[in-house]
Amino acid sequence: MLLLKDIKQTSLALSMGLLVSFSALADNTVDEQNRAKFANQYQSWLATEEQSEREDMLAAYPASIILWAGSAYAKEYNSPRGHQFAVADVTHILRTGVSVEEGKKGLSASCWTCKTPDAPRLMNEMGVEGFSDANFADLGTEIKSVVYCSDCHQEGSEKLALPRPHAQDAMAKIKLPFDKQNTTMQGAQVCGQCHVTYYFQPERHDKVNIPWIFGSTADDIEKYYDTRRFYEWIHPISRTPILKARHPEFEHWSRSEHAEAGVTCITCHMPPATDAKGAEFTNHKVGNALDSFDSTCKACHSSQKTIEKTLQNHKKSIDAKAREVENLLVKAHFEAKAAWDAGATWPLMNDAIMGIRHSQWRWDFAMSSHGLYAHNPQEGHELLDRAIKQVTMARQLLAMVLKQLDVEKVDYPDVSTKQKAQAAIGFDEAAAKKDKQAFIKQQVDKYWDPVSKIGYNN
Ligand code: HEC
Ligand code: HEC
Ligand code: HEC
Ligand code: HEC
Repeated sequence: MLLLKDIKQTSLALSMGLLVSFSALADNTVDEQNRAKFANQYQSWLATEEQSEREDMLAAYPASIILWAGSAYAKEYNSPRGHQFAVADVTHILRTGVSVEEGKKGLSASCWTCKTPDAPRLMNEMGVEGFSDANFADLGTEIKSVVYCSDCHQEGSEKLALPRPHAQDAMAKIKLPFDKQNTTMQGAQVCGQCHVTYYFQPERHDKVNIPWIFGSTADDIEKYYDTRRFYEWIHPISRTPILKARHPEFEHWSRSEHAEAGVTCITCHMPPATDAKGAEFTNHKVGNALDSFDSTCKACHSSQKTIEKTLQNHKKSIDAKAREVENLLVKAHFEAKAAWDAGATWPLMNDAIMGIRHSQWRWDFAMSSHGLYAHNPQEGHELLDRAIKQVTMARQLLAMVLKQLDVEKVDYPDVSTKQKAQAAIGFDEAAAKKDKQAFIKQQVDKYWDPVSKIGYNN
């Protein structure tokens, strides 16, 4: 039903020469209702804008630039921050590039899938594969909201919902269909729509798929990819068919002692809070779990100091192992290059290349899982230990190949800083930034919704 207020807004907007569609109007009404009816949840949801800090991961771990050479990950990669930035960050990051000429195939719109409720809306309107077949930049003007109430709830209600088809499919694959779960598991699954590893299915127009046919461990997923001979890109240095993991937080949590004890993402990242009048509500400022130790952890762990110390120890040892794998993998990629350059053939190289592929997959499955040291440090250690074994084996095989081909010396790049590592793979950051800024100025600033600028307003 069109309310009088909306009609006034329509004529006002039209008189200002703005294009306002009816669906956008309906959205505004729903948003006003949510804001009025669920003030505490709404205001705390908005407050994720306070979590604006993030880390440049490529600067922190420059060796990863070599491992991701040949993909957009080597261009820019940051740690996650508050949900309010989801749309603006994916818009501005060098990884998503600029728009392509009309009629050309660019980056898939699937990159919007986990940033906005407009993604499931567009999937309904265009069909899942119609949506994923579109270009990322071409749908920019359609994106009007960051991670929103309707990403986790039925519209206008507190009942939980799972609007993304890929997530519905995935939960059914692991025999935990959303509709059959209690609210505790449903809470974790709403986060698992986005905080989960995925790939774009090439034979289905880049539709998002969660590779859990055999299960959700690194071994299960690798088996799926290997059976399908799938790869994301061919590594330009070593010719390895690379697998890429993406934030498998749900997977790691699901195998943790906390999951077993019924402690979910919601327990730790959305604890109960009380408003000024004493009414209880779920804090929707999804953020650092330790900021509210008393309401999140204290029921089961009495000492904050002890827990923080344990977490720091896990973080340190996992980080150290990850740096070790990175350094070994950089060497392996360049040793493979030296072997190819000296005339090596696939029969000679196959096992070593598969070793690099499998080692890097496990490293990535650990490193792209934000908060792994807190969610499942045991699995983190296991993954990295296996990765070290696999890359060490690959390097032994490569050493034999190099010997056979009389290669005496391998040149390794200097990867001590982001600039040096990017130079080693021939990436010109300044040029990429210039192109991106032009795109932002000519398209985003002019035609896209203000949500695409949150955090970039000055
Ligand atoms: C990222 C997912 C997510 C988003 C986004 C989200 N919610 Fe929630 N919401 C939850 C979860 C999970 C619960 C807790 C369910 C439970 O355990 O009972 C919850 C609980 C609620 C409740 C029940 C009362 C309470 O506080 O526990 C209301 C009402 C609610 N949300 C409203 C909203 C509104 C309004 C928005 C948008 C401003 C919103 N939610 C955005 C996940 C979300
Ligand atoms: C629709 C997709 C989506 C859903 C659903 C979602 N997230 Fe996120 N989440 C994101 C994205 C995208 C980011 C990174 C945003 C950025 O850095 O711009 C993020 C960031 C985060 C962060 C980092 C916050 C910070 O300040 O560093 C945490 C923690 C988090 N999410 C937890 C959760 C939890 C818990 C749930 C379930 C209640 C959830 N998310 C549901 C997409 C989602
Ligand atoms: C036992 C409590 C606990 C549970 C359960 C839990 N987390 Fe976390 N999570 C943490 C802690 C502690 C950290 C590290 C400190 C921080 O950033 O909150 C963290 C970190 C994160 C981060 C990285 C934040 C950043 O800025 O780097 C994300 C994203 C995240 N968790 C999402 C999830 C999701 C999604 C789930 C459920 C599938 C989940 N967490 C389950 C405690 C928990
Ligand atoms: C409902 C109970 C519960 C809550 C809430 C809970 N935990 Fe736990 N936690 C457990 C259980 C059970 C274990 C496994 C047994 C053990 O080590 O005590 C565990 C283990 C841990 C461990 C591993 C301990 C070790 O010595 O290796 C850490 C670290 C931890 N929790 C951190 C947290 C943090 C941080 C929070 C809050 C953000 C939290 N937990 C909330 C129940 C809980």
